[in-house]
Amino acid sequence: MSEVRVDGARLWDSLMVLAEIGATPGGGSGRLALTDLDRQARDLFVGWCAAAGCHVRVDRMGNIFARRNGTEPGLPPVMTGSHLDTQPLGGRFDGVYGVLAGLEVMHALNDAGVATRAPLDVVVWTDEEGARFKAGFMGSGVFAGLQDLDAALANPDGEGRTMGAELERIGYAGDAPLGMPVAAFIETHIEQGPLLEAEGKAVGVVLGAQGQRCFRVTVTGAEGHAGTLPMDHRRDALLGAARMIDAVNAVAFRHRPRPVITVGRLDVRPNSPNTVPGQVVFTIDSRHPDDDTLVSVAADMRSACEAVAGAAGLDLAMEQTSERGSVAFDAGLVAELRAAADKLGLAQRDIYSGAGHDACNLAGIAPSAMIFVPCEGGISHNEAEYAKPEDLAAGCDLLLQVMVARAGATG
Ligand code: HGY
Ligand code: MN
Ligand code: MN
Repeated sequence: MSEVRVDGARLWDSLMVLAEIGATPGGGSGRLALTDLDRQARDLFVGWCAAAGCHVRVDRMGNIFARRNGTEPGLPPVMTGSHLDTQPLGGRFDGVYGVLAGLEVMHALNDAGVATRAPLDVVVWTDEEGARFKAGFMGSGVFAGLQDLDAALANPDGEGRTMGAELERIGYAGDAPLGMPVAAFIETHIEQGPLLEAEGKAVGVVLGAQGQRCFRVTVTGAEGHAGTLPMDHRRDALLGAARMIDAVNAVAFRHRPRPVITVGRLDVRPNSPNTVPGQVVFTIDSRHPDDDTLVSVAADMRSACEAVAGAAGLDLAMEQTSERGSVAFDAGLVAELRAAADKLGLAQRDIYSGAGHDACNLAGIAPSAMIFVPCEGGISHNEAEYAKPEDLAAGCDLLLQVMVARAGATG
């Protein structure tokens, strides 16, 4: 069993073919959750899984489960997987690598004639990125019992189209049971940071991931004529939002170790060059390894925004839209990953994830862990995202070894 290896060229080719769906001019991927492009990628993956002899099921959240049967089908599956949805101008590897690495494990075991006792599942989790609907990690969140199904399905995008309606529209509102016992979940992913590349490591064994709290801030003033309204009579919502964004950013520098705080989306009403903006809505994404620090960061950001609103006579509403505690992955799986990486002769290091992943949700219901591989310059959520074929194959070889060890090999 330990001599079985994945086919790195086949893995690379599958990544490049799938990257053609939603390819962006800058060489990246743009496949927002539940759009027609997401459907095309899903359909392609489902076809590939069927061709590999997997049985495919879809649950009500559109999560796709491709199963390679084991000799003891009643055993809970050893699972891997990630997401196919991307950022608007995302990369070709974020998420997709974890999905196609799982499929490549199936191919390699088929080629080697290896049977496992427990079934193996490759999963596509719905809407990991949260770039279209209200919050991310929705598919795995509902599966893990962390999000309410009806609330998730009612989630609207910017045009008011709900997740439930979009799942129906693209044909991925499935009827497979929501949730099931899981023997273990292992996700492979590019690091989305610079450490592995800088240290020449082939793989990172991920110990855990930092917590995250997201907010929607609504600043309300009053529309007015750009030409006639005197400066000292204005309640300019965009000017107020700009000052708040600067103040929120400054909060990050008042905590040690430093949190990360990002304002990534801003909507202005009426967004006309010659009307004083009456209302602005912007988002805040804050993250830190320590959950208590995240609470005090939120309090500091709230008081910073209130101070600006008070001084400028603006109304303020700051709503928390999502919260995820920091996660420690399963110590047993971490040890098995370290030992298997040594046996494969892979240079490795322990690493901590700054990004969130579906594995963070699964960690609440099953032993879970992650494998990182280097990406060029640590660049991600960017069209220039790149990973080397040999690194992607190495991470996939490690995934294969640990999945089979957990599932029990019989052939
Ligand atoms: O935002 C995240 O951490 C993930 O990449 N969606
Ligand atoms: Mn991802
Ligand atoms: Mn991402």
